[in-house]
Amino acid sequence: MINKIATLGGYIHEYQKSVANPQDFWSQIAESFYWRKKWDRVLEWDFKEPEIKWFINGKLNITENIFERHQFTRGDQPAIIWEPNNPKDDNRTLTYFELFTEVKKFANVLLGLGIKKGDRIAIYMPMVPELAISMLACARIGAIHSVVFAGFSANSLADRINDAEAKLVLTSDGGFRGSKITPIKEIVDEALESCTTVESVVMVQRTHTKVNVKDGRDFWWHDLMNYASDNNKAEEMDAEDMLFILYTSGSTDKPKGIVHTIGGYMVYSAYSFKNVFQYSDGDIYFCSADIGWITGHSYIVYGPLLCGATSLMFEGIPTYPDAGRYWDIVDKYKVNQFYTAPTAIRSLIALGQEFVENRKMDSLKVLGTVGEPINEEAWHWYHDHVGGNKCPIVDTWWQTETGGIAISPLAGIIPTKPSFATLPLPGIQPIIVDAEGKELPGKSVEGNLCIKYPWPGILRTVYKDHARFKKTYFSSYEGLYFTGDGVKRDEDGYYRILGRVDDVINVSGHRMGTAEVENAINEHPLVNESAVVGYPHPIKGQGIYAYVVCGELSAGGEPGITDSIKKGVTKIIGPIAKPDKILLVDSLPKTRSGKIMRRILRKIAEGDYDNFGDISTLLDTSVVEQIVERAQNKAQN
Ligand code: WT7
Repeated sequence: MINKIATLGGYIHEYQKSVANPQDFWSQIAESFYWRKKWDRVLEWDFKEPEIKWFINGKLNITENIFERHQFTRGDQPAIIWEPNNPKDDNRTLTYFELFTEVKKFANVLLGLGIKKGDRIAIYMPMVPELAISMLACARIGAIHSVVFAGFSANSLADRINDAEAKLVLTSDGGFRGSKITPIKEIVDEALESCTTVESVVMVQRTHTKVNVKDGRDFWWHDLMNYASDNNKAEEMDAEDMLFILYTSGSTDKPKGIVHTIGGYMVYSAYSFKNVFQYSDGDIYFCSADIGWITGHSYIVYGPLLCGATSLMFEGIPTYPDAGRYWDIVDKYKVNQFYTAPTAIRSLIALGQEFVENRKMDSLKVLGTVGEPINEEAWHWYHDHVGGNKCPIVDTWWQTETGGIAISPLAGIIPTKPSFATLPLPGIQPIIVDAEGKELPGKSVEGNLCIKYPWPGILRTVYKDHARFKKTYFSSYEGLYFTGDGVKRDEDGYYRILGRVDDVINVSGHRMGTAEVENAINEHPLVNESAVVGYPHPIKGQGIYAYVVCGELSAGGEPGITDSIKKGVTKIIGPIAKPDKILLVDSLPKTRSGKIMRRILRKIAEGDYDNFGDISTLLDTSVVEQIVERAQNKAQN
């Protein structure tokens, strides 16, 4: 079992050890797992190439580390507690033994469908236990899962299926979200019209929505499971074989397939889970994220289950049936650790105090946040009203690419400070650089956040595009991993994340490339070009502001066109990318070399109409005056 750091002194000691001799440090932690064959060398790396390998020639299966390793000691302990969308419906608990049985059976189903080690499988499912079972069954047979958040559109799903060349799609008939039903299978059908690699589809029956079943291609989960044996031996995998691909947005057009490999991800997700949340045996841990994002992968499924924890999985939304739903769940199951996003906290604050006031929530020991900076007001509300003034808040900074939490307090061990992610986890060596990549001297500095040494959970490549991997993360500053975030470090050495410094915006904790949204807007037949920026939004953190140049207005005039642009973006990417504000303009502020000066557009979106700095490189400065006038007029209306 992984040892838990227990004191601040212990943290300092571990941290120093992890820097002085990273290989010994990680190999000691890795030894607490079950390997079919131990590694020959701990680490080979080169951030210039770039190439990173951990636990070289180690052989293992991650599911043996979840199931075989725990079955005799924790077989009857709940592994997953599942709370349905509607609190009146039956919940489900799967013990480690029961989850193991389901995973082995579904692993056999996958083999029966002709899936082999190395094949890619797309999973597009609502938050039902079968989603976790699917991921683990893939890992059991050595197939690579690519989970796609079920809020993405058919078009986004198709792009991801095609990039991964998935052979199989695992999905459901529909999904419950609050009072709505999403027609999941219908979206899959639409996506598959533009996919050629998919041979079969397996559907979980959840909503009993009527679906189209294509003969020979589509199968019901329950039909296949009826005949499946629960006898399954795990495939032997190499530590550096791929475990999963997860697509995430970047500053250029298409989302990137982030690749994580088995050995390093296993060690890092489990180590960070146990230490950040200070999980103790018997605790009930609840992370409210969707498994479609990395948070769900690392901290609903892999991290907790590798540690033999009880992980609570929630199908629904925080406001159904009312805005006290999270707190009802906390009381119903006596949740000890609760992990959510600042945007959820802000939206619940806005809905009123009464929803926290009549709940006890006295089981809580640790609160966590992730995904975006947490403002002080939300931090205090969370601390006082949810945590009853007694629970440390772990503000966890990390990324899809880091595989696990990288900068964060360890609960109850590292003193917290509102809106600071505080200190790096052992094994993480942050460095703050200026625009040229020079390390900024001294403790209290502000600049770009890089990491100078590999940790086991770091991504290994971008799927099928190693050149893009190199360009995105390792070419801004030679020899360093660049996170894309700006950061400030204070006199105590504490890190405060300031947000993205690239063309990525963070909307409700969801990462979005501005170029991706622009491309979707530009698909509109009346749009000539567009520029998208983020602006401060009280609930979402950042909102999406789009400046759009239209050739001519359609019959509906301005309201008609903005509405149809929003619909178009929702259709092409999904509702999370829908612009909050659209300003129709005659032209965009461009430099003589044709680059859009986004700095100005960001200012205008913030409501700042005159502090533009040096605009002498603009081709035509009157463009700015026109845009300001439009924005001011619109703000008044
Ligand atoms: C970006 C990564 C990691 C899971 C969720 C998001 C921002 C993340 C924090 C935090 C301030 C944060 C960063 C980062 N971010 N956590 N605690 N404080 N900013 O994963 O979609 O890969 O996005 O989210 O900007 O780069 P992601």
